[in-house]
Amino acid sequence: MRPSRITDPEFRNAVAELAVPGMGTESVAPLLADLIGFLRPRRVLEVGMGYTTPFLAAALAGTEEQARAESEALAVKTRRHLDAGGELDDSWLLEHPPLVTPASHLTPHRPKMVAVDDLSMEDSSARQVLEVLRKLRLADFVSVIDTDLRTSRDLLPEDSTPIDFAWVDAWECLYFFDHFWELINPDGGMVVMHYLTTYPEGEALIRYIKAFQRSNPGELETVNLLEPHKLMQNSITVLRRTSGVHSLRYAETGGKIKYSGQLQADAAAHSQRHAD
Ligand SMILES: C[S@@+](CC[C@H](N)C(=O)[O-])C[C@H]1O[C@@H](n2cnc3c(N)ncnc32)[C@H](O)[C@@H]1O
Repeated sequence: MRPSRITDPEFRNAVAELAVPGMGTESVAPLLADLIGFLRPRRVLEVGMGYTTPFLAAALAGTEEQARAESEALAVKTRRHLDAGGELDDSWLLEHPPLVTPASHLTPHRPKMVAVDDLSMEDSSARQVLEVLRKLRLADFVSVIDTDLRTSRDLLPEDSTPIDFAWVDAWECLYFFDHFWELINPDGGMVVMHYLTTYPEGEALIRYIKAFQRSNPGELETVNLLEPHKLMQNSITVLRRTSGVHSLRYAETGGKIKYSGQLQADAAAHSQRHAD
């Protein structure tokens, strides 16, 4: 069994050798892992490998495992309700696994990640990452592209776009924004950039992104999160692409779920797929 939880002692011991004090990702890495657990992206890109890489990979392994178990349990409860001749209702909704939407399980969750690093920084732990991933049995989740970001776009595997979640930690955020933004999933794809606050060039990029946002209404949402107790490497800038967001109106006014024909059909199709 691979450790899919970032709190496992085996995981923490293995990643300790990748920690480089000046990189400042000791709190960001678990935060990224939690974001992956929350958002369940299928196609992830990291630019700038190191301590964060196994956290991303473990989070992908964790969501794959969690989604598989959730999908099986969802099929079982749906089948039980349909076999009893019932329509889906609040008792179905709250039974384990509670609140899960069948549409999210119509295709199995098989997340993958691409990591780009040109190994140009001497003090980065990027060179040790693959060995740690292998030790943790997480290497299958990650394809490494060992090149400059500027030459990496054409090397991305075909099934790695649109990108649902990108983590950029390589002093190349401006280039990334200018050349990779169009690869981000317009339906809520997220980009997290490291350390743009509290120094002039980073703040200039934040202004540049804000100007882009003003001239492209509806294209993206942004927020900067600062670690106020740190002098540098002390923030993340989160961009969420919203130009093609699909409306997911599941509930009526007051938050009561609408058991629409589409929901019933998705639930039946999902449970049938498990039975086959
Ligand atoms: C700040 S370190 C990454 C730190 C890592 N995320 C961590 O948590 O330890 C930046 C990494 O980006 C790589 N890098 C720098 N410039 C790059 C570029 N233009 N293209 C690809 N990789 C680059 C460096 O080799 C280095 O490994």
